[in-house]
Amino acid sequence: MEKKDLDWSNLGFGYMPVDYRYVSYYKDGKWDDGALITDPNITLNECAGVFQYAQTVFEGLKAYTTEDGHIVCFRPDLNAERLCQSAERLEIPPFPEDRFIKAVEEVVKANAAWVPPYGSGATLYIRPYIMGTNSVIGVKPAQEYQFRILCTPVGPYFKGGAKPITIRVSDFDRAAPHGTGHIKAGLNYAMSLHAIVDAHAQGFDENLYLDPATRSKVEETGGANFIFITKDGKFVTPKSDSILPSITRRSLMVVAEKYLGLTVEHREVYLDELKDFAECGLCGTAAVISPVGKIVNHGEEICFPSGMEEMGPITKKLYETLTGIQMGRIEAPEGWVKVI
Ligand code: PLP
Ligand code: COI
Repeated sequence: MEKKDLDWSNLGFGYMPVDYRYVSYYKDGKWDDGALITDPNITLNECAGVFQYAQTVFEGLKAYTTEDGHIVCFRPDLNAERLCQSAERLEIPPFPEDRFIKAVEEVVKANAAWVPPYGSGATLYIRPYIMGTNSVIGVKPAQEYQFRILCTPVGPYFKGGAKPITIRVSDFDRAAPHGTGHIKAGLNYAMSLHAIVDAHAQGFDENLYLDPATRSKVEETGGANFIFITKDGKFVTPKSDSILPSITRRSLMVVAEKYLGLTVEHREVYLDELKDFAECGLCGTAAVISPVGKIVNHGEEICFPSGMEEMGPITKKLYETLTGIQMGRIEAPEGWVKVI
């Protein structure tokens, strides 16, 4: 199959419409059979639940071309499960997990010409989402929904790829205690927009959000979980009820322990501890692992010994092992890699 004529190695993290998208409609209490369509635009009533009360949840995963030329997805079953958990919290009818996986498979297959070639550094980003589509004016859940999947080829999330980034401790909170920080809902990102625009204006790449109750613990950034390496080589990652349970982070915990033999600590991480870590990174589907060189907390600079030029040595091993598994260079644990 002939690939599209794109400059794969120079893609940024942006949207471009591809040939097909998937849609299934929910009406009268059930999801229809679903289909691939070609129109990238959606026409909805002006009063649709998604427009008025942000009733929408989403997922993010990637399709990769492996070294031997297959197209694969990484742990789509966990995205299917998490979308159901997100939907439940916003009174959205869940999309069945087995159908989610089949729909991902179908839409990636149909867009195979858009899956970047092996070695290009790019991937096909897959964005499943569900939204309330009928009109609601009183505050209540919609009765009609669309489950959709769009795909778009992407390059690195942070400009500069593997160069360490600088982030700041945000004065804004991302999630409330007992709120929605643990689900993947558009509303969590809407409220982060002001903070990210301000962070960029001040010369930072991202925001580090603190736990909203005590503002003493590290939570996550706007779009990724944290990983830290201690000076004695342990893998540490924050535990909190108000962060997104990142599939990349959960996978890295296994990679760290089982592939690299590191001690893994999944626990509360205090802001005061940051100065003692040797390496820091952000992990997520879009971010993969993006090294953090510096964290600024109201003028106080925390500079990790790994520096601003390259990834720390253990972060690099984690990155190479994870991407090796995803791209088929390293044997994956059972069930992690789904061939499309
Ligand atoms: N945290 C937030 C807020 C995110 O938006 C994402 C992106 O999906 C992640 C963490 C990373 O999660 P995952 O590794 O499942 O992509
Ligand atoms: C992802 O990593 O898939 C996300 O949804 C994060 C987003 C900030 C692009």
